[in-house]
Amino acid sequence: MFYSCLKKILFQLDPEHSHEVTFRYLKRITGTPLQFLISQSVPTKSVDCMGLSFKNPLGLAAGLDKNGDSIDVLGAMGFGFIEVGTVTPLPQQGNKKPRLFRVTEAEALINRMGFNNLGVDYLINNIKCSRFGGVLGINIGKNKETPLEVSKEDYLICMDKVYPYAGYIAVNISSPNTEKLRQLQYGDLLEDMLTSVKKKQTQLHEQHDRYVPIAVKISPDLSEEELIKLADAFLKHEIDGVIATNTTLDHSLIQGLNHFQQSGGVSGRPLQISSNETIRLLSKELKGRIPIIGVGGVDSLMAAREKIAAGASLLQLYSALIFHGPALIKKIINHI
Ligand SMILES: Cc1cc2nc3c(=O)[nH]c(=O)nc-3n(C[C@H](O)[C@H](O)[C@H](O)COP(=O)(O)O)c2cc1C
Repeated sequence: MFYSCLKKILFQLDPEHSHEVTFRYLKRITGTPLQFLISQSVPTKSVDCMGLSFKNPLGLAAGLDKNGDSIDVLGAMGFGFIEVGTVTPLPQQGNKKPRLFRVTEAEALINRMGFNNLGVDYLINNIKCSRFGGVLGINIGKNKETPLEVSKEDYLICMDKVYPYAGYIAVNISSPNTEKLRQLQYGDLLEDMLTSVKKKQTQLHEQHDRYVPIAVKISPDLSEEELIKLADAFLKHEIDGVIATNTTLDHSLIQGLNHFQQSGGVSGRPLQISSNETIRLLSKELKGRIPIIGVGGVDSLMAAREKIAAGASLLQLYSALIFHGPALIKKIINHI
């Protein structure tokens, strides 16, 4: 009820501005008597995955809290885990605004943010101040100016810095908004990336005496053949988890709707089909040896159940939080 009133006002504003305003105010009420407006108690529904214990299987997907500014606010909404980032070694502005669009009729978003973030050191400072008791995933990427051939160095810099603070580390090689980034999903670049991050993980495990699992985030726009190759590579390198999926470049399901011609990745309801198909194929290949975190259009209990039926062990959402508000989190966790 509260959110549906608020949404009427927020949807009058530019989407990125409305996001900033919302989180600025949410932060202000955290820890005050007004916190009841966002806090929800949800039942514990523990899931063990990647060697970690999650208090419930629903998490926040990367991109909403890129800098870890609002971890406690989001935690109060009931998420079992929160993925912050994508963060890069150096701060960067991202693409020119406007770069986020609502396709309201389809409950979808189009974004071409381009990893706007304040850099890994800023994120770590925020994490140090947070009190979130769930699993914190940290999603890492490369700076725009870093050439693709040496991009693994950016991931290794981030790994070094975030390792002591991360429940798991998500390696994002599937954002459509950083030029050529998705090429890291193929051939020698993939092989080099996986070899390097696993080697770094081993070294950091010894150094910190703690094993932090690595999950790789993939695109929904891969062919079956490409997915099979990726799955084989993940098995070979003993990757701990796969996050499926990022946004899609396929705009066909929003054809003719407001903003459909804007370039960028589509998320929300129209992503359900390709995301579920990716999870299904991946699950067939991985045969339970690597868990899948399912993301893409989770906007109802039914959508959540479909992801689990397709093979996901954990779930994440982003766009549906914008269209349905925090009550959706409770609804899904209550009944899943
Ligand atoms: C505005 C916006 C920014 C995003 N930024 C990131 C990001 O920085 N890193 C990332 O891995 N995914 C990012 N994503 C993708 C989401 O994490 C998620 O994979 C995708 O939106 C599908 O989930 P949904 O349909 O529940 O939104 C972003 C999505 C949106 C809408």
